[in-house]
Amino acid sequence: MKIFIDTAITEEIKEAADLGIISGVTTNPSLMAKSGRTLNDVITEILGLVEGPISAEVEEADWESMYKQAHEIVEMTHNNPNITIKLPMTPDGVRTCTMLSKEGIKTNVTLIFSVSQAILAMEAGATFISPFMGRVDDFLQSEIAPGARLIKDINRVKEQYGYSSQIIAASIRNKGHVEQAALAGADIATIPFKVIKQMYEHELTTRGLKIFADASKK
Ligand code: G3P
Repeated sequence: MKIFIDTAITEEIKEAADLGIISGVTTNPSLMAKSGRTLNDVITEILGLVEGPISAEVEEADWESMYKQAHEIVEMTHNNPNITIKLPMTPDGVRTCTMLSKEGIKTNVTLIFSVSQAILAMEAGATFISPFMGRVDDFLQSEIAPGARLIKDINRVKEQYGYSSQIIAASIRNKGHVEQAALAGADIATIPFKVIKQMYEHELTTRGLKIFADASKK
């Protein structure tokens, strides 16, 4: 499973990229606001930090405006083949996805919470689809790991019908989500930087390091 980083903070992207395990970046308007920068200001810099798909989300609601903004982003980034237009799971978002896909522009349909929505996005030719694990788990608290089940069900439909869209497990809150996403067949997990750092940790690794360090002192 590939790892993308879910942030618009360039310092985090740089640090994660140096680890050598990052294959792409996803951003959204909330992450932009958190970084204190605008999409136009930051997107070219991000394209220079990671060699892989970089998702930039449109902020418009109707398809004409989404389509126009998508092309503005593509032009601003000089038709960089890694630029990926992130679109919401709405009739206008899916319509825009169909149009951009036909033009060979990479797309990522976001805010996916059901198999039905995933089918619509895959039929529209989305390069990536983003089911939100953490938010589904928050929403259906009485069920066992509903976020993981959503990824597994979408993956089953994807394989059954041979859809080419890649599944990005999004809204990852902890390393348990990363492991569940991998076991459920996600192609990619987009992960906040603090969770990427947690993935390195294990109590037995810490203890093992201490045992080796003590031994080498003797
Ligand atoms: O990739 C989507 C993600 O950023 C949403 O995460 O934590 O706001 O549910 P969250």
